[in-house]
Amino acid sequence: MNAITQINPGIRQQILDAFNFRHATKIFDPDRKISDEDFNVILEAARLSPTSFGHEPFRILMIQSPEKRELFREFSWGANGMMNGSSGQLGTASHFGIILAATDELMRAGSDYLQDHYARVKQLPDEVIEIFNGAYGKFQAEDHKITSGREITDWSGKQAYIVLANMMTAGALMGIDSCPIEGFDMARTTQVLAEDFGIDTAKWKPAVMFAFGHRAKDPEFLKTRRTMQDTVSWF
Ligand SMILES: Cc1cc2nc3c(=O)[nH]c(=O)nc-3n(C[C@H](O)[C@H](O)[C@H](O)COP(=O)(O)O)c2cc1C
Repeated sequence: MNAITQINPGIRQQILDAFNFRHATKIFDPDRKISDEDFNVILEAARLSPTSFGHEPFRILMIQSPEKRELFREFSWGANGMMNGSSGQLGTASHFGIILAATDELMRAGSDYLQDHYARVKQLPDEVIEIFNGAYGKFQAEDHKITSGREITDWSGKQAYIVLANMMTAGALMGIDSCPIEGFDMARTTQVLAEDFGIDTAKWKPAVMFAFGHRAKDPEFLKTRRTMQDTVSWF
């Protein structure tokens, strides 16, 4: 049975506190490591995230070896500290990773990969698999017109961002800081993944990087956002 049967009255404020606590951390305290127990909760938040059709078109690469992290430094301006004269998230984060997006080779409707996913992971019977193939084929070809390799990979990337958002919120609820990272050269990252990590980049492409840890100091900037009125329209 679902363990959440009643709203704990304090939870609303806890959630808002977590969202206010979270900021895009530029420099982490290199001496404060996240425990395995806490980081596993963050990874479970990723694994349990929703994805369109339940296709889970992502993988997570954790890059903990300092030498491996350095392979990304030169062309990862959003994580290498060049904006603040530090070694950046690459040099200071307790945990650093990349979410990979599944390409069209895996995510085109009817692919062998999806047949295996439906049968083995989702445990769907053959007749339901046929329904999925038809519905997803129509979704790609007609509803959303996601047909080129780039479009399909970008669609996988959208799912990857949901995953990362859930990871960051899970972290913030535990008082763990994070940074989402798009500031990197896509082509060179793809090349490093192929050459130094053995990733088949015809199947998996980088979507977004992330860093987790504990802030070295308080954020320099106030959190600014549009008003609720400018953000949400009710009809
Ligand atoms: C998808 C995405 C990519 C981002 N890339 C970077 C990045 O490469 N480096 C960085 O320091 N911050 C990056 N940010 C952080 C944003 O600049 C930051 O979230 C935004 O300015 C709002 O600030 P706050 O998160 O501190 O509230 C990224 C944020 C998102 C959502």
